[in-house]
Amino acid sequence: MKVEFYGHVQQYLNIKDEIDAKINQVLMSGKFVLGPMGEQFEKELAAFTGMKHAIGVGNGTDAIWLTLMALGIGAGDEVITHPNTFFATAEAAWVVGATVVFVDCDPKTRCIDPTKIEAAITPRTKAIIPVHLYGQCADMPAIWAIAEKHGLKVIEDNAQAIDANGGTFRQGDRSAAVTTSFIIQKNLGCFGDGGAVYTNDPAIDAKIRKLRSHGSIKRDNHSFGFNSRLDDIQAGILSAKLKHLPEYSNARAKWAAQYTAGLKDCKAITLPTALPGYRHVWHLYAIEVKNAAKRNLLLAFLNKEGIDAKTHYSIAIHKQEGYPWGKSARIVGSVAEAEKNAASVVTLPMFPELTAEQVNYVIAKVKEWDKANA
Ligand SMILES: Cc1ncc(COP(=O)(O)O)c(C=O)c1O
Repeated sequence: MKVEFYGHVQQYLNIKDEIDAKINQVLMSGKFVLGPMGEQFEKELAAFTGMKHAIGVGNGTDAIWLTLMALGIGAGDEVITHPNTFFATAEAAWVVGATVVFVDCDPKTRCIDPTKIEAAITPRTKAIIPVHLYGQCADMPAIWAIAEKHGLKVIEDNAQAIDANGGTFRQGDRSAAVTTSFIIQKNLGCFGDGGAVYTNDPAIDAKIRKLRSHGSIKRDNHSFGFNSRLDDIQAGILSAKLKHLPEYSNARAKWAAQYTAGLKDCKAITLPTALPGYRHVWHLYAIEVKNAAKRNLLLAFLNKEGIDAKTHYSIAIHKQEGYPWGKSARIVGSVAEAEKNAASVVTLPMFPELTAEQVNYVIAKVKEWDKANA
């Protein structure tokens, strides 16, 4: 049996008529950038997220640095995040010239460890960027409490967890903004690059609307800006898929529960931690191999058996070759948990269109390896 890591083509085929109709609507409108479909999707996204404003931008990385820029954060300022996220979280802070300050991740959820944040705060600290890693919200109440105590902005990097919540809190409740990515791998994915910022702050909304389009919201009138817009065809695809997102999230949760039930007795691996009460949307089902020296053996075994398992991410940002490339960066305290995560993680196939047979096959193969390596 073959089990791919993603199910993009099947997802398209399942709702082909809805997506094709949206694309056709855009083509016939003759307006492909900042047109009516883009505007409609922004309204739908704001309603879905419960935020006042949503702004479509070029990708999830731009969404972060455009937000930092809109907040006036740049050279000489420090931004706190953790090093076991996708590279773009830190990259965005470097784009605006800020110093990236890394603290460790939580030993279980692998999101930022809030207990490590305060030691990293200096008079130059301006923001915290928690990442809702693997589809589960970071401990936002703890992060907001620290941010409010020290007068810091919070930007939630939500590229991996659209439709997740913390049960008692929603994303963005007390943050300056939430950013997301719509590349096809994401839980809400378009057919190219795309991203968005959502915020309750009208000033951030207004600034990003200008910055994303050459500093212009009125023809011929410009200030300093960029070109980073979500085009209307992508917005149409996202509009069609957004209606299905809760059912996609539920399907992911169903497969995650099947993995967890099937793998619970494994000895050589640790299963992901889902926090009680949280809505985890399972962007990734990330297990860790207890003996990190054997991680690549499990990966190779699964790949050989036709299972496209991967790693997210096998090299922590501060361990990337050439780090920090002349950019400003600092590590505060031990980041041993982030390094352990990088050394031991294996991500199993996870997408809504999986079948029970495929999930059972993956479970059987992981168990087979576990038995031989426990
Ligand atoms: C946590 C995180 N942040 C940021 C990004 C960047 O998004 P994009 O690739 O759309 O720039 C991604 C995904 O690629 C991500 O997983």
